[in-house]
Amino acid sequence: MIRPARAIDKEKEVPKGQIRDVNKQSLATFFRFTEVKTIAYFTAKARSHLLTSLGAAVHGKQMAKKPSYIGTLTAIANAERGGYELFKAWASSTRDSRLRTALNTVAVREAEHSWAFEKRLGELGYPLEPVKDKGANEIVKLAASRSADTKKFHALGIGVKRSTNSDNQGDRLLSLLSDTTIDSKTGELLGRFICEERDSGRLLTEAYKSLQRRIRYKRKQTT
Ligand SMILES: [Fe+2]
Repeated sequence: MIRPARAIDKEKEVPKGQIRDVNKQSLATFFRFTEVKTIAYFTAKARSHLLTSLGAAVHGKQMAKKPSYIGTLTAIANAERGGYELFKAWASSTRDSRLRTALNTVAVREAEHSWAFEKRLGELGYPLEPVKDKGANEIVKLAASRSADTKKFHALGIGVKRSTNSDNQGDRLLSLLSDTTIDSKTGELLGRFICEERDSGRLLTEAYKSLQRRIRYKRKQTT
């Protein structure tokens, strides 16, 4: 405990008739001085440490390098939002109830993917920058139209013969993980996304085949 300076000075006054105990007083003064110096030293040390830590934190934040995969996450979040709009519009326009079920399932997945990647971008400190794709708008218009479901499948490349040179969808998706700097949480999200996209592809291909069977059956019934 530090006593006020006034109290210390008072101790120096020796009442009349008493013998001044110089050694005792000097020792007390020395300990009080040492006490003050020690506290001052540790206070200064703590303040210095705090300022160094704060400085390092601020400096670290300023110098933190932007992860190389922010662009990929942004592109996926925007593309999946567009995918949701497409499949939701198609689900609302189709007259085929079985196809509608499949389209709604894919639409919900697309929406969830968009939110999940937007969430991850926020966690990494890079909020999503929404980008509208004009080409995507065109295909959403087609999906919402009264055009035949078969035509809509073909516009997405489902049910059409692909040339041997065309991109392999599986390989294209897998390349999303080729960046070796991807952190584990983002990698986990990308892995789930890749598998669900492939499953949605299988679901849509099966929905197309099922639709074609129903169309053939109806034609037979009317001829
Ligand atoms: Fe998708």
